[in-house]
Amino acid sequence: MLQKPRGTRDFLPDEMERRRLIERRMREAARRWGYREVCTPDFENLELFTMKSGEGIIGEMYVFEDKGGRQLTLRPEVTAAVLRMYVNEGKVLPKPIRWCYFADCFRYERPQKGRYRQFWQFGVELIGADTPSADAEVIMLADDTLRSTGVTFDLHVGHLAPMKHLLADLAPGDQRAIMAYLDKHDPKGLEAALVEKNLTHLAEPLAALGECRTVSEVFEIAGDVPERARIEETFALLDAQEIDYRPDFGIARGLDYYTGMVFEGFAKNLGAENQIVGGGAYRLAHLFGGDDVASCGFAIGFDRVMVSIGEFELAHGPVVGVVFTPDARARALEVARAFREAGIRAEADLMGRGMGAQLAHAAKTADFAAVLGKREVEAGTVTLKDLHSGEQQERSLEEAIAEVARHGAC
Ligand code: HAM
Repeated sequence: MLQKPRGTRDFLPDEMERRRLIERRMREAARRWGYREVCTPDFENLELFTMKSGEGIIGEMYVFEDKGGRQLTLRPEVTAAVLRMYVNEGKVLPKPIRWCYFADCFRYERPQKGRYRQFWQFGVELIGADTPSADAEVIMLADDTLRSTGVTFDLHVGHLAPMKHLLADLAPGDQRAIMAYLDKHDPKGLEAALVEKNLTHLAEPLAALGECRTVSEVFEIAGDVPERARIEETFALLDAQEIDYRPDFGIARGLDYYTGMVFEGFAKNLGAENQIVGGGAYRLAHLFGGDDVASCGFAIGFDRVMVSIGEFELAHGPVVGVVFTPDARARALEVARAFREAGIRAEADLMGRGMGAQLAHAAKTADFAAVLGKREVEAGTVTLKDLHSGEQQERSLEEAIAEVARHGAC
């Protein structure tokens, strides 16, 4: 039996309905904040991501050459693509630009629970606002969007300036390497790298940064940084709006383009792969031929949110099985159409089954049977059977539709 590729999943209808419901809630949250949906291609020129996204992601990409010899890749994330689109199409738009997306991404990673090779991100990018209010808006929107899904999570908010200040004397390559260990929460790798690079004096302050619970402690460890006032203002805005978060200046982020505020969220009930959102302030547009515009955004790992929420019952509208004798088929199709026009899901037999077999099938798949035989066709009626209670009554088509509609939103 042929299997799907490693790290991918199939979704059956119940799961798809649950996914669509949660997806709708996320889109709705973003809409309320003024973020409008955009869409970029599933694949991009490779260089879009090699320019700045970071070593990790480059090693994990699905790279291929097309028939014209172009180096392409399936997108491993959406931010770079959205900023490319901004440079191509959006430079003249009034700022700030508020965009959101729901898109599948591809990373060649070792699959495990919550880590897939094809996964979906719901994200936003706020382009052209370089203020504490912009940073705070993006964090608050991430919080609002995640809350709307029902997932429970811890939100950590930090800023790269104190960590970069501690690492200021390092060569850029070494700085990136150290930050990658911090991002992966790999203390052994970090220790080995610090020993190898003769930087063991940094072990303690780096560890302490992640432990700080107040902003002032951070500056005691890392020294005063020019960004201090901005960091304090962002945090004050979050506090004033009673956002439930924890300062965390140990956040390094895996992607290389971040420049300032960074944040991550962790689902409370997931294992190792518990990071459900990541984001922050960054600059990318200038690399793609645009202006050096400040941007800020996040992406939620939609699949991890779904794993965290778990299975739940879906309230679906009533389903009608239209059951008919062979000579009532034309009328049955009219009746099915009338139910559908009223927004009700109606399914008619396609298998040439007898009435008994049609009713047995409806009992498994529907809430009501609309039965049509010779008598109903002549009288212009429908015998409506409630398949849960077993009650049945002959009614006009309008009454039958009204009765079914009474049983819930369609
Ligand atoms: P990221 O942290 O690489 O950030 O990914 C965002 C989220 O995608 C992660 O927190 C995680 O929930 C989910 N995710 C990542 N890899 C996988 C995987 N293999 N399987 C399942 N879920 C995964 C970004 O992608 C940035 N573009 C976020 C951003 C937007 N920054 C600014 N704007």
